[in-house]
Amino acid sequence: MLAQRAKALQGSQTSGMRNRARRLRAAGVQVINFAAGELDQDTSPFIKDGARKAIDAGKTQYTDTLGIKELRERWAQKVTQKAGTPYAVEEVGFTSGAKQALFNSVFVTFDAGNEVIIPAPYWVTFPEQVRLAGATPVFFPTEADAFQIDLAALARSVTPRTRGIILNTPHNPTGVVYSQEVLRGIAELAIKHDLTVIFDECYDELVYSPATHTNIVKLVPEMKGRTILIGSFSKTYCMAGWRAGFVAGPQPSIKAISNLRAIPRPTRVTSCNTRRSPHSTLPTTRSWPASANNCTASAKPHCSF
Ligand SMILES: Cc1ncc(COP(=O)(O)O)c(C=O)c1O
Repeated sequence: MLAQRAKALQGSQTSGMRNRARRLRAAGVQVINFAAGELDQDTSPFIKDGARKAIDAGKTQYTDTLGIKELRERWAQKVTQKAGTPYAVEEVGFTSGAKQALFNSVFVTFDAGNEVIIPAPYWVTFPEQVRLAGATPVFFPTEADAFQIDLAALARSVTPRTRGIILNTPHNPTGVVYSQEVLRGIAELAIKHDLTVIFDECYDELVYSPATHTNIVKLVPEMKGRTILIGSFSKTYCMAGWRAGFVAGPQPSIKAISNLRAIPRPTRVTSCNTRRSPHSTLPTTRSWPASANNCTASAKPHCSF
């Protein structure tokens, strides 16, 4: 009764580990759960209060597919700031977490037979999503280069079938933040070979000195037309359970994502207050104990993977 693509699906290993930790905890075992990229802080009272008010005000009905207009307008401004180049409302959209933003982006971008490069190690969801879209993940090993990207080797891994690359910086699970030199080199490669870059910067607000995060579009504005930016409210705003993420990219891609989904969704409530106070909870997420930094990661949440 199952479709072939469903049979090929492997369950999320991260969720499997998280569930196992929960089961052990329920059985009384003391567990430190390093499975998911989830902060051990609560969502700020400001955001929770906004959600309560929105529910009480009856804002519980269908919204536009990619989120309510005011939120998209505000987020277009935010992405404009992040990317240093103007993004219009039609170039941003809200999703049920970055995971959905990634899946939708991969689905509307890659075809069967396309190869998509994924630096390894990687967040385990990436290759599953590429396979679901019918494309082929091609893993690019980084361990020998301290998890940075050797640009010459990356160039050699591009074939006539390569259509894209999924970049995640700050990186889960290694904690590496790609340097400007690396990002510039990847941009040059993408432009030369007409590749789309899916740029997952879910952890961009959780980078600690001396590391600095660079948005690839800000670095190379020419990349705007071939980059899909992915963000998450789960990490920056400690809202993992709320399932709120976003996507920003060329208007045809965002329109295709809207067509793919074409089902109104609950971005109304989940994002009602974060849009007004985007950094209101940052002091909380940034105030991690120094002990959390005792790993090779320059982005603290990666310690908990
Ligand atoms: C690299 C990366 N991208 C995306 C996500 C998904 O984030 P969200 O909770 O917004 O779906 C995660 C979650 O751990 C992640 O580590």
